[in-house]
Amino acid sequence: MKLLYPTSIVLDVDSLKGFAPTLHVYDAKKPIPDDLLDAEILVTWSNSPDNLSEAAKRMTNLKWIQSLAAGPNDVLNAGFDASKITVCTGSGLHDHTVAEHTLALLLCAARRLDEMKEYQLQGKWPGHLGGPQPDRPKGKFTSLRGANITIWGFGNIAKMLTPSLVGLGASVKGIARSNGVRNGVEVVSEDSLQKVLSETDALVMILPGSEATKHALNAERLKLLPNHAWVVNVGRGTSIDEDALAEALDNGSIGGAALDVFEKEPLPEGHRFYKTKNTIISPHAAGGRPQGAEELIAYNLRRFLAGQELKNVI
Ligand SMILES: NC(=O)c1ccc[n+]([C@@H]2O[C@H](COP(=O)([O-])OP(=O)(O)OC[C@H]3O[C@@H](n4cnc5c(N)ncnc54)[C@H](OP(=O)(O)O)[C@@H]3O)[C@@H](O)[C@H]2O)c1
Repeated sequence: MKLLYPTSIVLDVDSLKGFAPTLHVYDAKKPIPDDLLDAEILVTWSNSPDNLSEAAKRMTNLKWIQSLAAGPNDVLNAGFDASKITVCTGSGLHDHTVAEHTLALLLCAARRLDEMKEYQLQGKWPGHLGGPQPDRPKGKFTSLRGANITIWGFGNIAKMLTPSLVGLGASVKGIARSNGVRNGVEVVSEDSLQKVLSETDALVMILPGSEATKHALNAERLKLLPNHAWVVNVGRGTSIDEDALAEALDNGSIGGAALDVFEKEPLPEGHRFYKTKNTIISPHAAGGRPQGAEELIAYNLRRFLAGQELKNVI
């Protein structure tokens, strides 16, 4: 039995030795070599679309794909036979990095570091942002303290982020597929969107990319947000109707947007978002560095060999 791991990430392969499968490295940007096509296990990270679609056609023994991405849309779109192959996500490997980046985007939005930098580049002093200021004025998002932060997609990353927000005085609510209290946070389903969005100062989207989440935040739902509310998206670009968001930014019906993910990446030159008001563009920089990949692979490998259910199955 063969396990293939990619060259696109440095893994401590020694920690995976001692299991029955033999370990083989492969180039994630080139076709899998003929002598490895009979592998049963494939670990993926940043594979090229061609590598994955070739693998989907030619790796007929494949039983399990362990992606190191939290949202493995690349694997899901490559044409693997879902009736024969179990696909596992790397959810959990990106919690720290994405939580940290989301916190940075929220603070940038509240403290307007982006606007300060714009003034700096023009050699001007952004006096209106400094000196004595009203403390948390109504109808503005200027601080995490006392702010209502709604996290849409309340999974692993949201659970990592929440304590930092709460620690700085924010009040956090979640939206997911079911109601309940998770890690001390009230999580509601989309049935309660109207009420939750209307009370939101900053909406953090951490939804996976899927048919079910496509344009979850659309024109109608954007209208529910207060005029000062910011939208932060670190999930997937497809979860927002980008035309509707650009419209809302330009007509001032929301406060601003800090976006790390887009429907099309890289965001094409000349795209409207480069010019919309109060917009912070981050180049899919939140994650990108799986942490603890070896532990997840080893954990699932043990379960795979024992015929037990794997962690993070899609
Ligand atoms: N920007 C980056 O660099 C970066 C890095 C890593 C991950 N991501 C993205 O972040 C996403 C979330 O990662 P995670 O590790 O937190 O995933 P996760 O633990 O699987 O959490 C996903 C959350 O989304 C909710 N959800 C899924 N489909 C939904 C729907 N149709 N309506 C409402 N809620 C829905 C789930 O609800 P339930 O709990 O009710 O099932 C869950 O709370 C990934 O899928 C990936 O696309 C981006």
